Amino acid sequence: MNIPVRMYPLVILVTATLLAAATAPAVADGKRKPSPADPAWQEECGSCHIAYPPRLLPAGSWQRLMQGLGDHFGSDASLEPQRAAAIEAFLVANAGRSKDGVTAPPLRITETPWFRGEHDEVATAKWRSPAIGSPANCGACHTQAERGSFDEDEIRIP
Ligand code: HEC
Ligand code: HEC
Repeated sequence: MNIPVRMYPLVILVTATLLAAATAPAVADGKRKPSPADPAWQEECGSCHIAYPPRLLPAGSWQRLMQGLGDHFGSDASLEPQRAAAIEAFLVANAGRSKDGVTAPPLRITETPWFRGEHDEVATAKWRSPAIGSPANCGACHTQAERGSFDEDEIRIP
């Protein structure tokens, strides 16, 4: 390869970025500190349920979700295209990492392997109890879910 000298900084930057991506943990883990918020995301994605923090799903999942807002788990969550694009950009920029080899990114946080692993102690019947209703109802047990925090010591199972 014959790279002009003035391009060297760019080449170094790209290489460093690729290396960082390759060595980062390969899971979308939910344990890190709350990611930055975005007013449009908070408003549009926090009206029917909590605004699920972007780190809880990989970028591919958010892209799939944002492409299908017209039929969003049986609800119409469609948005004006520009607003949807801005929210998608925020979600993708702050997304969790996907597991290597995952070809179809899940649409649900509750279907990811890390979610199942973290919640294997919750009995199946418990998820459907009236006080919870759905595993997607994070706030039923995670008392600080509204602000994107899922720490163990904040859990209270109803
Ligand atoms: C009109 C109401 C509504 C709006 C607005 C809405 N959602 Fe949802 N969303 C739902 C419903 C209903 C479900 C299914 C909940 C369940 O299974 O209990 C859901 C589920 C989800 C799930 C899967 C949760 C899981 O792990 O099971 C994600 C992720 C999600 N929504 C993201 C978004 C994003 C991102 C936005 C904003 C662009 C958004 N939602 C806006 C109604 C809405
Ligand atoms: C039925 C109650 C319940 C619901 C609903 C629930 N969780 Fe949990 N969650 C738990 C329990 C119990 C644990 C395990 C805590 C432990 O390891 O001691 C847990 C663990 C976690 C952890 C790991 C916390 C840590 O510090 O290790 C994360 C992240 C998490 N949940 C996110 C979510 C998200 C996101 C949702 C909604 C999509 C959700 N949970 C819904 C009960 C619940």
